[in-house]
Amino acid sequence: MAIVAGNWKMALGVGESVELARKIASFASDANYPHTEIWIAPSPPCLGAVSPIVQNTPVKLGAQNAHWELKGAFTGESSVPQLKELGCSFVIVGHSERRHIFGETKGDIAKRAHRALIEGLTPVFCVGETEKEREDGKTALIIAEQLSPFLELIKETSSYANFVVAYEPVWAIGTGKVANVEQIEEAHGVILDLLGEALDKTSIPVLYGGSVKPDNFSEIISIPNVSGALVGGASLDSEKFRKLVEIAEERA
Ligand code: 13P
Repeated sequence: MAIVAGNWKMALGVGESVELARKIASFASDANYPHTEIWIAPSPPCLGAVSPIVQNTPVKLGAQNAHWELKGAFTGESSVPQLKELGCSFVIVGHSERRHIFGETKGDIAKRAHRALIEGLTPVFCVGETEKEREDGKTALIIAEQLSPFLELIKETSSYANFVVAYEPVWAIGTGKVANVEQIEEAHGVILDLLGEALDKTSIPVLYGGSVKPDNFSEIISIPNVSGALVGGASLDSEKFRKLVEIAEERA
């Protein structure tokens, strides 16, 4: 099963999000994509309006972050129960914009993902190196440092298998620079090895993210250890997003 997930970041207003969700729900319901899951993550103020539009359609709704506590004095945060109440079934955690712009730490990101996991919201755990870290030959080390605190926390959790990892090299996000096949295959291999060492089960989907577009996705989704994509810019255009879903479906 492939996953094509759209991360809408803070790009759209509430009305625009509703309009885009309608178009996506419509193509997802009209066509049959038995091998591809379609996920969308609108920004928090848009979730309530988008939720009824994708309800009872093949489109899964998700959030872009969640706190590790269930409730309390955490201004600006969203809790996992709140997101579930809104109809979310997944949540992105550790996106590079959270790590690099907002200074979220590896430990906090692990706690966010762990809370989502134990409450039954699928975390999409993002990892990825900066350009400088890649140039310094530190890609595998950075991925291990980002993923390990989460793997450490979930060792004691029986439902650990229900999560997704997204490899998003920071230098490829929103830049038009896509990682090449070798770089993606290698990084996904590192992630799958880490998962294999830490868990009994290794059927965790690993998505690629970073300037995914219809014209480069066929090559990316053909890489054997790539299970789909986490898409920013191209997910904001329903036609491009539909094309990505169709490419994933063809390769499945
Ligand atoms: P772009 O597809 O715009 O490069 O964004 C990728 C991303 O950050 C998805 O989470």
